[in-house]
Amino acid sequence: MLNATLNERHFRRLSEFIENEVGIKMPATKRVMLEGRLRKRLRALGMSSFDEYVEHVFSRDDGEIVHMIDVVTTNKTDFFREPDHFRYLQEQLIPRHLPEGWGLNEPFKVWSAASSTGEEAYTLAIVLNEVAQNRRDFRYRILGTDISTAVLHTAQKAVYPAARVRPVDARLQKKYFLRSRDRDAELVRVRPELRRNVVFHRLNLMTPEFPIADRFHVIFCRNVIIYFDRPRQEAILSRLYSFLVPGGYLFLGHSESMAGLNLPLVSVAPTVYQRRKNTNREA
Ligand SMILES: C[S@@+](CC[C@H](N)C(=O)[O-])C[C@H]1O[C@@H](n2cnc3c(N)ncnc32)[C@H](O)[C@@H]1O
Repeated sequence: MLNATLNERHFRRLSEFIENEVGIKMPATKRVMLEGRLRKRLRALGMSSFDEYVEHVFSRDDGEIVHMIDVVTTNKTDFFREPDHFRYLQEQLIPRHLPEGWGLNEPFKVWSAASSTGEEAYTLAIVLNEVAQNRRDFRYRILGTDISTAVLHTAQKAVYPAARVRPVDARLQKKYFLRSRDRDAELVRVRPELRRNVVFHRLNLMTPEFPIADRFHVIFCRNVIIYFDRPRQEAILSRLYSFLVPGGYLFLGHSESMAGLNLPLVSVAPTVYQRRKNTNREA
């Protein structure tokens, strides 16, 4: 049993680093949570004190930082989480823009900007694949990014416990997931026809320049900025805005909002915002 405690000084050092690098707010009330989560790292490294651990984090070999980020991020997600968004995409947004050639002249491009373990990106793939089955010339590409390497690994494998796909309609489950041959394993894998349209990369939303050449018709940035303070939220959303095509859409989580932010986006549905068509502003 490991009894190491995270003292005030160490907490301040780590929390400042996490706030500045990852963006996640770390008020003093999070000390116990941070201590609990980091104990797992101490155990994995065979360390018995936070003195030793904090030294290790800030040593020249910063490989531990990636692990620390993995344990401090909250990765909760689901297939078809906040289902209104997917209905809006399929029933309103795409039909509205098909006549302009979205998805026809060039692939319909979507970015899941805090993709966690991949459920959001694969839900988008299911919805877009359904569109493609009714419009044979419709093509799509999905980019999933996250700061945590652990969640990206799961997203890339696309293997989930069968219970995770329960929110997916039974017809779509059958169509888009393969059951593991080992019946006892109770695992499913996303089918290759969806996987080949989805790529995942590591990206920290706090980096001032995103190394991404594409512009997107739709960006999902859901349930992540809630962990950031207002100036950081504004900086990130402003950067994401510049990656939308004119008329493109930004989806936030249901408890997040653009209220008070000075960006040329108009609200078109709850937590769905559209970039005005006649703006060329680069953030
Ligand atoms: C609660 S999950 C949300 C997943 C998905 N968007 C959803 O709504 O279901 C938040 C994700 O944001 C990621 N995250 C936190 N800080 C980040 C940052 N600075 N850059 C990129 N991703 C970040 C976390 O690793 C985590 O996977």
